[in-house]
Amino acid sequence: MRVTIFGASGLLGQALMHEWSGDTVTGLSSRDADIRDVSRVQAVVRENHPDWIVLAAAYTDVDGCETNPDRAFAVNRDGAVNVAEAAKMFGSRLIFLSSDYVFDGKKTSPYEIDDVRNPQSVYGRTKAEAEIRLLELIPACCIVRTSWLFGLGGKCFPDTILKLAASRPALDVVNDQRGSPTFATDLASAIIQLCRKDANGIVHISNSGDCTWFEFAGEIIRNAGLTTAVRPVSSQQMARPAPRPAYSVLSPARLLSLGIEMPSRHDALRRYMEQRQK
Ligand SMILES: NC(=O)c1ccc[n+]([C@@H]2O[C@H](COP(=O)([O-])OP(=O)(O)OC[C@H]3O[C@@H](n4cnc5c(N)ncnc54)[C@H](OP(=O)(O)O)[C@@H]3O)[C@@H](O)[C@H]2O)c1
Repeated sequence: MRVTIFGASGLLGQALMHEWSGDTVTGLSSRDADIRDVSRVQAVVRENHPDWIVLAAAYTDVDGCETNPDRAFAVNRDGAVNVAEAAKMFGSRLIFLSSDYVFDGKKTSPYEIDDVRNPQSVYGRTKAEAEIRLLELIPACCIVRTSWLFGLGGKCFPDTILKLAASRPALDVVNDQRGSPTFATDLASAIIQLCRKDANGIVHISNSGDCTWFEFAGEIIRNAGLTTAVRPVSSQQMARPAPRPAYSVLSPARLLSLGIEMPSRHDALRRYMEQRQK
């Protein structure tokens, strides 16, 4: 297989580049191809003529999207459409990375793939609109919704908690948002399997199990052998520009039906911590 990854320098992109073997993989950062640039996108797809395109590139600063919606829509929705049009033009299959933030968080049981999108933030709207446009353009494309991504290639929640815990006696962490952490390595491995299985449609991928950010922070600190206290606070006490869903656990039913099972979030965190120390 020939594969082109947009967003190869990001958290997921680096994991994909690391995990993918046995195929010809080209990884692109924003410097190689800005997805807002239609002609550049078409040129790289024409050059690489991939069987699969993995579109992991996005403006992922959820609060930044709130203050800069023009950039958010230009990259996350219109940029995604540019890539989809190029995929269609050159006959490549497409996997698009979307988010649990397309949901409003009002459910109390895991979100199924066909639950109604009702994003509460600009970031969530950009992803929801991109999903709709891409499914119109390429009905057989594959949309992977993931959540709470962490990994070795850059800034993420566990990394932030460990850095803060090293210099503070106590940390305040929100306890009224529940979701499923996802280790970029495990997500990358599942995405590679989706390509090999020629998957299409919407698929939810996160590590199994769920927690609040407070619970996740406590586990990170315990795993590191630190004694920093973690105090539960509400989202209101830690007001951020973008609203986050109170509940965004993603049902793995479709993934399981494709014969792919994700490791537990506890196992994923243990492996992340081990690899971080190397
Ligand atoms: N992080 C999460 O918790 C989370 C949760 C749900 C879904 N997702 C989705 O999963 C995917 C991967 O996320 P991530 O955390 O790996 O992202 P990330 O670490 O923020 O990396 C973003 C990637 O997108 C590239 N990029 C940004 N703007 C671009 C542009 N205009 N043109 C081309 N490339 C551009 C970046 O390239 P440069 O390095 O060159 O800037 C980088 O490679 C994204 O679609 C994200 O929305 C993430």
